[in-house]
Amino acid sequence: MVLLLGATGYIGQGFAGELRRRGHEFIPLSRKAFDYTQLRLLFDYLRTMRPELVINAAGYAGRPNVDACELARMETFQANTLLPQTVVRACVMTNTPWAHVSTGCIYTGAKMCENGEMRVERDLNRPEVRRSFDRHPENFLGFTELDGPNFSFRHPSFNFCSGTKALAEEAIGDCGPGYIWRPMMPFNERDGPCNFLSRIQRYPRVYDHVTSLSHLGDCVRACLDLWGRRAPFGVYNVANPGAVTTRQVVEMIQRILKPTRPFEYWTDDDEFYGGGAKALRSNCILDVTKLVHTGVKMRSVQEALEDSLERWQPVGPNCRRAESLAVSSPCRRLSVRRSEPGGWRPEEGRQTAKTRKAAVRG
Ligand SMILES: NC(=O)c1ccc[n+]([C@@H]2O[C@H](COP(=O)([O-])OP(=O)(O)OC[C@H]3O[C@@H](n4cnc5c(N)ncnc54)[C@H](OP(=O)(O)O)[C@@H]3O)[C@@H](O)[C@H]2O)c1
Repeated sequence: MVLLLGATGYIGQGFAGELRRRGHEFIPLSRKAFDYTQLRLLFDYLRTMRPELVINAAGYAGRPNVDACELARMETFQANTLLPQTVVRACVMTNTPWAHVSTGCIYTGAKMCENGEMRVERDLNRPEVRRSFDRHPENFLGFTELDGPNFSFRHPSFNFCSGTKALAEEAIGDCGPGYIWRPMMPFNERDGPCNFLSRIQRYPRVYDHVTSLSHLGDCVRACLDLWGRRAPFGVYNVANPGAVTTRQVVEMIQRILKPTRPFEYWTDDDEFYGGGAKALRSNCILDVTKLVHTGVKMRSVQEALEDSLERWQPVGPNCRRAESLAVSSPCRRLSVRRSEPGGWRPEEGRQTAKTRKAAVRG
């Protein structure tokens, strides 16, 4: 039996669907039914139920986007850094294998081949770098699992969410038999508030950047295949091979879905961060060679995107139902008291994102 934590969430529901499809016995535990954030309770539960694997798909990703994590730092830290430690501790105490859903957003940039030399480029949105990616994407390689996070509290540029996720990896990385699975901006064919394809279609202006992406179904299948094949425990980047720009994704949307609305873009990063974005975006490419070498199959990102759009299931004009879904499960809207002592203020957030952006360039 697999114990699934965070089963009410977008990623958790992906795991639940795939486990169900495989006919694998699992218990989707929700915090409402059982407070798995309490070490003592979780320890007793594991000792009694003896699952073969605990999947921790719980966390705070921020809704409608990562900016929300800058507003709700306490909850972000609790869900993304403290909870994984509680879960892994309970697993180690009961000798239970574990799998933790992390993120690829603990990196920024990519490795760039230039004049026969490889170097890390942290800012893929620098105009000359972006021109180079558009002309020769093959010159850009992703970060491997051997590369330490470069978008974390230990670096000059990060956002709060990525900081808490990297810190969790650091804390649990060496603890007993476990997997750390890193998806990147999940999407699939079902319209919804957490789906990258829906979000692009809903934003009044699109932020154009280079990124790796994970098809949700491919991602959870790959994660469960790793475990099924008894692939060595450790860290795995779980994205579809390749990288795309948001502009390329919009072009696919226009070609396949033929929406009537025009798409507008933020002119550049200065305008994007000056226009309200609070959290610095990670914009990175992941290398998935380690995953693919285990024999786990992943479609290319272009193929997965085209297929999702060909089979697109809209939920209504202007994603209105998707918006309303954001209020309930799996993705809730935030209710934040901005007047909290020590709480975030919009001006601070904007300055921080801009200042940190400057740090990336520096
Ligand atoms: N969505 C993305 O873009 C993305 C990309 C890469 C990685 N991830 C990672 O995947 C994980 C899940 O993300 P998601 O998109 O599925 O989020 P989601 O749809 O908002 O779901 C979050 C899940 O985590 C649980 N949760 C939230 N706060 C919690 C807390 N303080 N303590 C315990 N459980 C808590 C929720 O349980 P309740 O129902 O009880 O509130 C829910 O089951 C996160 O760790 C995230 O970093 C997400």
